[in-house]
Amino acid sequence: MDQKKVILSGIQPSGIMTIGNYLGAIKNWGVMQDEYDCLFMLADLHTLTVKQEPARLRANTYELTALYLACGLDPEKSVLFLQSHVPAHAELSWILNTVAYPGELSRMTQFKDKCARHADNINMGLMDYPVLMAADILLYQADVVPIGIDQKQHLELTRDLAMRFNNRYGDTFKIPEAYIGKVGAKIYSLQDPEKKMSKSDENLNAFVSMDDDTDTIMRKFKRAVTDSGSEVRRAPDKPGVTNLINIYSLFAGKSVEETEKEFENAGYAEFKRRVGEAVAAGVEPIRREKDRILSDKGYIDKLLASGAERAAAAAERTLRKVYKKVGLLPRVKA
Ligand code: TRP
Repeated sequence: MDQKKVILSGIQPSGIMTIGNYLGAIKNWGVMQDEYDCLFMLADLHTLTVKQEPARLRANTYELTALYLACGLDPEKSVLFLQSHVPAHAELSWILNTVAYPGELSRMTQFKDKCARHADNINMGLMDYPVLMAADILLYQADVVPIGIDQKQHLELTRDLAMRFNNRYGDTFKIPEAYIGKVGAKIYSLQDPEKKMSKSDENLNAFVSMDDDTDTIMRKFKRAVTDSGSEVRRAPDKPGVTNLINIYSLFAGKSVEETEKEFENAGYAEFKRRVGEAVAAGVEPIRREKDRILSDKGYIDKLLASGAERAAAAAERTLRKVYKKVGLLPRVKA
């Protein structure tokens, strides 16, 4: 029988999630979970590379776990776990550090950006971030890694480190492929449709969070910028309307052509109201389900414990192999 391919996906538990994150990634999990062996990891160790309020980090980690479950992540089919619960991540990153060069790490675009943005907290973790990410991926011999375009360089580095290690010590790691979501799923700011929708936007009307209630969602779409003219039609000079058409189509489960047809005779005000309604109808049940799950932290703790157990079994297999290859003695039973 063919073995299913392994997908590892990682996300940092830092703050709220927008409908852009949802449409770009989570919404596609349903199918993915049946076709692949999926591991979903909350990269909590990575979040420590920028200053965190400990209580906030704890709350965010529960929130994101609950949100994943509410969005349809099925813990029977997929493995959901916290990076910090599987010690092999930190252990493998140490070994990978011995084949990573400071030159290549200091050239990473994201490292340079973060140094500029967090000038008061330039720490080694920031520079080592991609090595830990490589460990996340290589531990599970992942075939495919779904990432945003901003993580592409980190995945290239992961491949480089894996090949370097394999060349030096013999075949050990599978070389993973990036999966970068379709452009169609890219969602832009409601206030400046040339910019990506971002949860860190200062203008709260620019993004819709998965935590927004129906009134807030309706208000944000009412204020969404449109373009000159009055037709609901995709066009390069209509980035605002194009973005709204995409959002509506994805939430309503219709093609963009169907959406254009549906709103042929509608004005922008009516169109925006209907987009708001479709989004609210999609977000509301998820938010309720997330809140329900969040009310039972004991359940979440147990679920994460079982996820960590399953992940650790796979991760340790790779780690043992690595330790052996580099010449560390096996640890036998006392
Ligand atoms: N660096 C990723 C991000 O910020 C999160 C991440 C950590 C990740 N480890 C990973 C993504 C492993 C994919 C695979 O988006």
